[in-house]
Amino acid sequence: MFFIFYGAFAQSKPAWYNEQYRPQIHFTPKQHWMNDPNGLVYFNGTYHLFYQYYPGAAVWGPMHWGHATSKDLFHWQHHPIALYPDSLGYIFSGSVVVDYKNTSGFGINGKIPLVAVFTHHDPKGEKEGRIDYQNQSLAYSLDEGKTWKKYSGNPVLKNPGIKDFRDPKVGWNEAAGKWMMTLAVLDHINFYSSTDLKTWTKESEFGKDVGAHGGVWECPDLFSLDYEGKKVWVLIVNLNPGGPNGGSGTQYFIGDFNGHNFIPFATDTRWLDYGPDEYAGVIYSNTGNRRIFLGWMSNWQYGQQVPTKEWRSAMTVPRELSIKKEEDKYLIASVPAKETDRLSAKEFKLQNVNASHFNLTSKAGKLKGPAKLIINSDRLEDFSITVSNSSGQQLVIVFDKVTNTYFIDRTHSGKVDFEKGFAAKHTAPRLASGQQFNLILVIDNASVELFADDGRTVMTEIFFPDTIFSDMMIESNDKFYLKTLQLITLRSVYK
Ligand code: FRU
Repeated sequence: MFFIFYGAFAQSKPAWYNEQYRPQIHFTPKQHWMNDPNGLVYFNGTYHLFYQYYPGAAVWGPMHWGHATSKDLFHWQHHPIALYPDSLGYIFSGSVVVDYKNTSGFGINGKIPLVAVFTHHDPKGEKEGRIDYQNQSLAYSLDEGKTWKKYSGNPVLKNPGIKDFRDPKVGWNEAAGKWMMTLAVLDHINFYSSTDLKTWTKESEFGKDVGAHGGVWECPDLFSLDYEGKKVWVLIVNLNPGGPNGGSGTQYFIGDFNGHNFIPFATDTRWLDYGPDEYAGVIYSNTGNRRIFLGWMSNWQYGQQVPTKEWRSAMTVPRELSIKKEEDKYLIASVPAKETDRLSAKEFKLQNVNASHFNLTSKAGKLKGPAKLIINSDRLEDFSITVSNSSGQQLVIVFDKVTNTYFIDRTHSGKVDFEKGFAAKHTAPRLASGQQFNLILVIDNASVELFADDGRTVMTEIFFPDTIFSDMMIESNDKFYLKTLQLITLRSVYK
């Protein structure tokens, strides 16, 4: 009897994925603290996601690499911790490459090694007031990421005497026939090259006097994208603080990379995501021509205070990057990766909508979970989209013609008092010109991601309402007509 009772009691505990604020389509750890995505690599039909993880609490602590895998970037299988701290320190951010040619010599019996290149952060050295406590190290896996061995010759790239020296992103540079490492060094980027991943030669520096410098440069990435048959290079540099709406943010530069130097086409500051809640974003390696981007969906300003109990933080939806040209300016555009479509459940579609005062909920019904809203128009006017719940909590998404900006106001979005800067209105410039307009909103239980104008302006925001936002209303003081409106409900990845 006792056992039956106990069993019933145990089952009445809600499943972990049903907890309040738990995202239903975004990756979260079951428990405890997560920050940056690490080691994003696609290998043998599987996407690997390693991530900064502290298994001891739901706040930052001694860093490990957590591990999950997926076939479709949405349904994730959780795996045991891949990398634990050791005598050289915590395991900070870094990347994973597929060493097809076994340049590292780690491969045996014809097995292709996955090689992780990461920062060893020595907390003892930090405490003692040394400045050389961040160094780059290697680990490798011969069983597709299941188990990892640290390299006995670690560290492979020693600290030259500068505190912030971290987050190596490594890629194979075809033209140079070498591995290239992009490393964040306080207020600039160092590029290194190697033929075996073990010995690194400094090639050049970039960025001391360009872009945004409101904080420390972290988590960089360097990759090429095709634009009308031309190879264009993108350098991503994450920055904390100094982001476009406070706290941390992701900036980028577009230019050329000749195997030694990065030569920017322009040196003004550009943000890959203007919202407050995308950080440390980088792309997957080994995905052919696709550039799939994933970021941490939080902000160092309040990431450790957000009101989730069992776990903290999620990743953004995977995004596909491309280059667009606006007059003579190259821009990165990002949109939800096409894998998002596989979550589509029900679609509600209308054409020629007068959106001056359009109660979408009265037409399409209340939202019960994640959804995607897609609208487009031939003539952009001022408008607002309000998503709300029955407690009167709301998130307001606005376009303002006079200032040519999008903004998102989460001041009354539910629980906001855990940090003084959280209740705020955030802005982003419209980077597209012309009247043609389209917008995708990806809405989950505790986040919205805005992709405007084919992804030229992107904003990510998190929020914590008492119950999910179920109602949607579009309003405009002008004559705002939508050519089409689609509301697509998305299946939870747990169902
Ligand atoms: C960025 C970051 C990285 C570092 C890691 C530590 O969010 O600060 O620079 O490697 O987090 O967890």
